[in-house]
Amino acid sequence: MQDILIDSTDGVMTITINRVEKKNSFTSAMYTACADALDQAGADAAVRVVVIQGGLAVFSAGNDIADFLNTPTPGLSAPVLRFLRALATFPKPLIAAVCGPAVGIGTTMLFHCDLVYAGDNAAFVMPFVNLGVCPEAASSLLAAQMMGYHRAAEALLLGEPFMAEAALEVGLVNRIVPPTEANGLAQAQARKLAAKPLSSLIETKRLMKKANLPQVLAVIDEEAQSFGRMMGEPAAREAFGAFMEKRKPDFSKL
Ligand code: COA
Repeated sequence: MQDILIDSTDGVMTITINRVEKKNSFTSAMYTACADALDQAGADAAVRVVVIQGGLAVFSAGNDIADFLNTPTPGLSAPVLRFLRALATFPKPLIAAVCGPAVGIGTTMLFHCDLVYAGDNAAFVMPFVNLGVCPEAASSLLAAQMMGYHRAAEALLLGEPFMAEAALEVGLVNRIVPPTEANGLAQAQARKLAAKPLSSLIETKRLMKKANLPQVLAVIDEEAQSFGRMMGEPAAREAFGAFMEKRKPDFSKL
């Protein structure tokens, strides 16, 4: 699987999204590879921290749109849901380094990370309404919890991009650095964490996440059911068709 690269060094597993020619958009096989990696990292005592990173020019363009069209109603056992549940329940520290566009799941996966470092070229967008669908990855819950309701509504209802500075201001990212330094900073922080007692890291994270987790998992499933249904409806068909045909969607009759 060249589209997802896995490296484990000195207690840090690094998952690199590496499908550059398609702007690091995720296929089902990539979700499976990431879920497998997280399962392995959770179970392997030699892995103490996981870093997720993309390239210097793009973090991820979100779900592969051709994949969406081929599997419009993926169901609750779909690879994407396995990945989301693995992210939400991952017991050890999870760090993301984000440079360039982070679209859809490229942004929503960050709500499940413990630390997020951004290149100053990072651009976050959750364009679900513009695609005729609804939020995923429990972002309908977590965006408002992290950013405040009105800012979350702006990001989710208007679906407009916001840049690294705005993400820092709302608390979605910890620090902004030049893109060439983002992956290195994430690695340096990961190594600091890897040197700490793993049992304390795991227990601290468990306690921090515990109150929200049942609701997060329930919302992931509820959103997925709505998303799957909406994928078959006219608004999504128009939006995704327009993307494939490289034209603007026309929602005037929907
Ligand atoms: N699924 C499938 N292919 C995608 C993709 C996606 N989500 N995002 C980009 N690509 C493909 C493009 O179709 C294009 O393929 P081609 O070279 O065969 O024509 C290639 O990646 C380059 O994309 P392009 O749009 O030309 O790059 P850009 O640098 O101008 O813009 C993005 C980058 C990420 C801003 C833009 O590609 C984008 O908005 N993508 C769609 C994101 C999206 O809506 N995702 C779904 C979220 S739920």
